[in-house]
Amino acid sequence: MWAIAAADYGAELELVELPEPVARPGELLVRLFAASVNPFDRKVVNGMLRGSAPHVFPLVPGTDGAGEVTGSGERIFGTFFHHPVGTGTYAEYVTVPAENALAPLPEDLDPAVAAALPTAGMTALQLVESLGAAESVLIVGANGGVGSFAVQIARAAGKRVIPVGRGDSLVEADALIDLASTDRPSFEANARYAPLAFNTNYLSSDPAQNFGMKGSREMLARLASMVQAGDLEVPIARRVPLRGAAGVFAGGGPGKTVIVM
Ligand SMILES: NC(=O)c1ccc[n+]([C@@H]2O[C@H](COP(=O)([O-])OP(=O)(O)OC[C@H]3O[C@@H](n4cnc5c(N)ncnc54)[C@H](OP(=O)(O)O)[C@@H]3O)[C@@H](O)[C@H]2O)c1
Repeated sequence: MWAIAAADYGAELELVELPEPVARPGELLVRLFAASVNPFDRKVVNGMLRGSAPHVFPLVPGTDGAGEVTGSGERIFGTFFHHPVGTGTYAEYVTVPAENALAPLPEDLDPAVAAALPTAGMTALQLVESLGAAESVLIVGANGGVGSFAVQIARAAGKRVIPVGRGDSLVEADALIDLASTDRPSFEANARYAPLAFNTNYLSSDPAQNFGMKGSREMLARLASMVQAGDLEVPIARRVPLRGAAGVFAGGGPGKTVIVM
């Protein structure tokens, strides 16, 4: 099968031909239709999980995808993360533990749209639910993958959303969702603007401020329903064919990048 992979930690991604994976007991073999790109994928290639989990090389990144279970033909989407690290969704086929956060892929949902939902959508949903009764929320990094969903979900929940992009000033609010800070001083400076504050990069000495997404089939199904009902717009900025996807980490910009197989 064709895949996009890195030969070593920190190496450039390249198109490679690899053996089709074989499902072990308790796993599904999935033929992917689409995979989405998350910042976590780049962090993994750069060695974030080095020493804490087994890796295989060439390392195929990617946790999110939509596809069809071989044999049964069941269409699913969700998070495909599992060990060893390096057997991810930037590939034509992937194996996934059956107990992962996976949900049925509705017939009328574009697989590329479904593939863009899992990590960013579930993170946004869970973050907004963590805000409780807060009436106003600052969202730093509002144009990104998580931010684009969080802005919509928070507004739908009746909150006053103050989106913050690069260079924008912060103002006081009831709550802060910081998706952009990469160091503790930056998050602590932002957290002064709101009594309830969360970051997604484990930057705080207060564990309650360090948000970690916990995926579920139920959340995926809710996100799919919201998209189908027209209540959630999925911000796909780029659709890239697998064979041309070696450059997906370059660029950036708003919204989500999706690799189409
Ligand atoms: N802990 C968890 O469970 C969890 C789950 C999901 C994501 N995450 C993490 O959360 C972060 C955000 O994820 P994502 O998918 O939304 O990433 P993303 O799509 O790259 O979005 C990040 C956004 O932040 C903006 N930004 C960067 N620096 C900024 C600054 N100084 N001020 C204002 N905005 C700034 C970026 O704008 P530009 O385009 O201008 O750079 C971009 O719009 C990543 O670090 C990711 O790894 C953690």
